Amino acid sequence: MAHQPSLISLQWFSILLACISLFSWTIFAVSPDAPLTLDYYKSTCPTVFEIVRKEMECEVNSDPRNAALVLRLHFHDCFVQGCDGSVLLDDTISLQGEKKASANVNSLKGFEIIDRIKNKLESECPGTVSCADILTVAARDAVILVGGPYWDVPVGRKDSKTANYDLVRENIPTANEGLLSIIAKFLYQGLSVTDMVALAGAHTIGMARCENFRARIYGDFGATDSYLRNLKSICPAAISSSGENNVTAMDNVTPNLFDNSFYHTLLRGEGLLSSDQEMYSNVFGIETKKLLRKYADDPLAFFNQFSDSMVKLSNITNSDSIVNGEVRKICRFVNT
Ligand code: HEM
Ligand SMILES: *[C@@H]1O[C@H](CO)[C@@H](O)[C@H](O)[C@H]1NC(C)=O
Ligand SMILES: *[C@@H]1O[C@H](CO)[C@@H](O)[C@H](O)[C@H]1NC(C)=O
Repeated sequence: MAHQPSLISLQWFSILLACISLFSWTIFAVSPDAPLTLDYYKSTCPTVFEIVRKEMECEVNSDPRNAALVLRLHFHDCFVQGCDGSVLLDDTISLQGEKKASANVNSLKGFEIIDRIKNKLESECPGTVSCADILTVAARDAVILVGGPYWDVPVGRKDSKTANYDLVRENIPTANEGLLSIIAKFLYQGLSVTDMVALAGAHTIGMARCENFRARIYGDFGATDSYLRNLKSICPAAISSSGENNVTAMDNVTPNLFDNSFYHTLLRGEGLLSSDQEMYSNVFGIETKKLLRKYADDPLAFFNQFSDSMVKLSNITNSDSIVNGEVRKICRFVNT
């Protein structure tokens, strides 16, 4: 019996040691041997930025919604094992992709846009530019093309050979999730509350489906009757297969313009997603409310913070992809 305590503490000690060594190994593995740089493709594909820009111009000209689709794709890529193109992978016999996970299914779109850019780049500089980089640069161009700010995009990402279906549920925030839980998901990715409030400004473009705002419009809302009536006509209270994919803009004033009017919708109580309105209304949202007011008042402050936060979002790395990653030939499939 007298031995027991020391045995137990010895066990704890070895667990602690194992944790420390695991931890330091993780740090070691995460620090990339080649950090992302602006001139990564300077000699191998000097026209990469022009090609992506030109393709995105066509895509956004044909439908401004395409800007929103690509921006969101990039976000969902980066929050699941880093910005490594994992979200682009199709399901195969040997690989379970992320596309069918509940936050993505029937909702993420724009994969063909990335396919088309990849095709162009494969004919210009075969086997050179990763799908993860294409998506990152395309998301930046998408924002510019609908009136948003410019920022430099460091490149040199590798594409993953894996995807993670379960991490979609764990990492991607959802429309009916509480504020503190969403903040935790951003902190987990190394992003601050300020980053979160600025990045949520992406909802100044794009649409949401009925299933993501039904609970909000039939619950405790507090917006004007005419606004609610319009939303209810698009999204009936009863779940019906026909209405589920009815969409409406998250910014009900300038839905195709990247501006700060999304923040004004929240100040009016007209946020379409509960998760967005919570940043203003939640009792724990003192800091978020302050930031929302700031970005509503000062469009330049929003643009500057959005740019900085996008660079941070796009910098989330997957240690495994750095070591074992590749440049996919087709964005939907791992190279054979
Ligand atoms: C803060 C937590 C966030 C939550 C809870 C959230 C949730 C959602 C939901 C539920 C939709 C509608 C999807 C649908 O109905 O099919 C949506 C759309 C969208 N999200 Fe987010 N999102 C968040 C952050 C972000 C971030 C950080 C970005 C990019 C930087 C982003 C970009 C977009 C865009 C552009 C759309 C519109 C896509 C389209 O038109 O189809 N979101 N988001
Ligand atoms: C979908 O929205 C349209 C209006 O945009 C509406 O006429 C239609 O009834 C809606 N579908 C359902 C099932 O409510
Ligand atoms: C990007 O990430 C690396 C480590 O992964 C870090 O050293 C660097 O400072 C980050 N850059 C930015 C702009 O966040």
